[in-house]
Amino acid sequence: MINESTRVFNAAIGASSVAAAFELGLLDALHEQGSLDIEAWCTEHDMAHWSIRSILQVLARHGFVEMDDARATAKPGPRFDEAFADKGYFLWLMRGYGNLLQNLASIVKEHDTTTDGIGRDGKYIAMAGRDYGAHFVDPHFTKAMDEVPFKVAADLGCGSAERLLGLARARPDFRGVGVEVNKGAVDLARRNIKAAGMEDRVQVVHFDVKNLVYQPEFEDVEVLFCFFMGHDLWPRPNCLRAFKSIRQAFPNLKRFLFSDTYRSDLPLDQEMPIFTLGFEFTHDLMGQYIPSVAEWEDLFGEAGWDFRGKRDLSIPYSAIFDLRPAANGSDAGD
Ligand SMILES: C[S@@+](CC[C@H](N)C(=O)[O-])C[C@H]1O[C@@H](n2cnc3c(N)ncnc32)[C@H](O)[C@@H]1O
Repeated sequence: MINESTRVFNAAIGASSVAAAFELGLLDALHEQGSLDIEAWCTEHDMAHWSIRSILQVLARHGFVEMDDARATAKPGPRFDEAFADKGYFLWLMRGYGNLLQNLASIVKEHDTTTDGIGRDGKYIAMAGRDYGAHFVDPHFTKAMDEVPFKVAADLGCGSAERLLGLARARPDFRGVGVEVNKGAVDLARRNIKAAGMEDRVQVVHFDVKNLVYQPEFEDVEVLFCFFMGHDLWPRPNCLRAFKSIRQAFPNLKRFLFSDTYRSDLPLDQEMPIFTLGFEFTHDLMGQYIPSVAEWEDLFGEAGWDFRGKRDLSIPYSAIFDLRPAANGSDAGD
């Protein structure tokens, strides 16, 4: 009989193995090739077959892969599709927050719970976000953007600028501007834009959304979007000020698609969906408040935005809020 502590112990190794299998290219290989000769794959990729076999054996115990009796080959198991779709969440947790998970007690003891203090790894957070974003966010984003015609858009907290580049690839007359506070992310976004040959159509400005003011690049922006950074603007008075100044900084804005993960408020005896516990645990630990959906909806009106509706994403407790500048919001800059 397996008790709960056994299940938790084994799950920790399972989570680490899914993240590693994603990062090492094993999950993609199984997805594309169907079946792997473990030794041949390891020779081709210069990896020790006993190490790769150990990871595959853990995945087999969860039904993510199946191995033959000699454990020489592996193929997708009955639950492979689950692990393949969710692999970005595992990378997010085990690599993005790996340092925190390993050093939890000392980080708490030393009051070192800032983003830098916990050693959050932005590179892996961005890599993971690209993967789960493609599965669980982009289809909803595309549908929401297609609802209202536009040519010029801006992305607040644009990260790698991937969302702007996607729009530029899909729409030949599109122009976009990203706003990003992190210098590393700005450099990465500019490199990506250059590599895509889109410098004449997509730009990034280095700015903190908390203190946003009009820039000439914002003049023609018709649609604004902002994904997965809104909670960074809280506590509420700061966020209210930011949402008011955003409204003022874009003079020709028609629409603001604001998206974030909100607080689940699930009781402690209820099972949490994937991602939610990791998201709430890491932010609680840093003392970063996560607003509920009601708190967001309450703020929009006060900040000078009409709230037109909410489209759920496929990430639990996450949505796109469709906002329009309110007609009576001319005093919104106070
Ligand atoms: C979780 S990432 C999301 C990136 C991208 N929007 C996406 O959906 O993949 C949050 C991004 O917002 C940026 N960010 C956070 N606070 C910001 C602020 N006050 N002003 C501008 N950018 C900010 C971070 O540097 C990071 O690149």
